[in-house]
Amino acid sequence: MPGQDDRPGVRVRPATQDDLDAVADVERRARRGTDRDQLVLALTDPERVVVVATVDGVVVGWGKTHWWSYEDGPAPVGHYLGGVTVDPDFRRGGVGGTLTRARMDWVAGRAGFVCCVVNATNVASLALHEGLGFREVARAASFHTIRFTGGSGVLLRADLGAGRA
Ligand SMILES: CC(C)(COP(=O)(O)OP(=O)(O)OC[C@H]1O[C@@H](n2cnc3c(N)ncnc32)[C@H](O)[C@@H]1OP(=O)(O)O)[C@@H](O)C(=O)NCCC(=O)NCCS
Repeated sequence: MPGQDDRPGVRVRPATQDDLDAVADVERRARRGTDRDQLVLALTDPERVVVVATVDGVVVGWGKTHWWSYEDGPAPVGHYLGGVTVDPDFRRGGVGGTLTRARMDWVAGRAGFVCCVVNATNVASLALHEGLGFREVARAASFHTIRFTGGSGVLLRADLGAGRA
């Protein structure tokens, strides 16, 4: 993972506390928001990873994973990709894909599959994840503690190869 680079110019590395302001800036530019305290918890949780993508040393996107320790209907216990945001000025340049592959690689070292949940209206995120091997498992108004704006979310799952479960 350190310095992972599978798209020219885009580097992905584990995030540190020093990246918190840059992550907040990406969220602001994307007109989203993330809870700084929750992010600090994720950074220090060995069951999770937080990554940032940089271009010319500047943070242009970030993503994290989440570990769900209980199932919720069709949503299993396991590692989930827990959100990814790319600066609007850097979209469609492979940043989101690179952040997602890096987190899939991190999970692949620990488990045989990974899940994520996406709002059913989020065409970009669904296409991004399906392009990386995720397949739809179920739809619902909520999975675990996540309730979807508009009323429908998609549970996706990708198998990460034999012998890693
Ligand atoms: C979803 C998001 C992370 C994608 O980031 P990105 O850097 O633009 O993604 P990439 O350039 O790596 O795109 C990879 C693939 O995703 C799909 N994709 C990305 N944006 C898309 C869009 N607007 N419409 C349709 N497909 C899209 C395409 O298949 C694309 O491959 P291609 O460019 O070869 O066609 C970005 O749009 C974003 O930050 N959105 C707001 C936050 C969000 O919705 N996050 C997901 C929460 S689950």
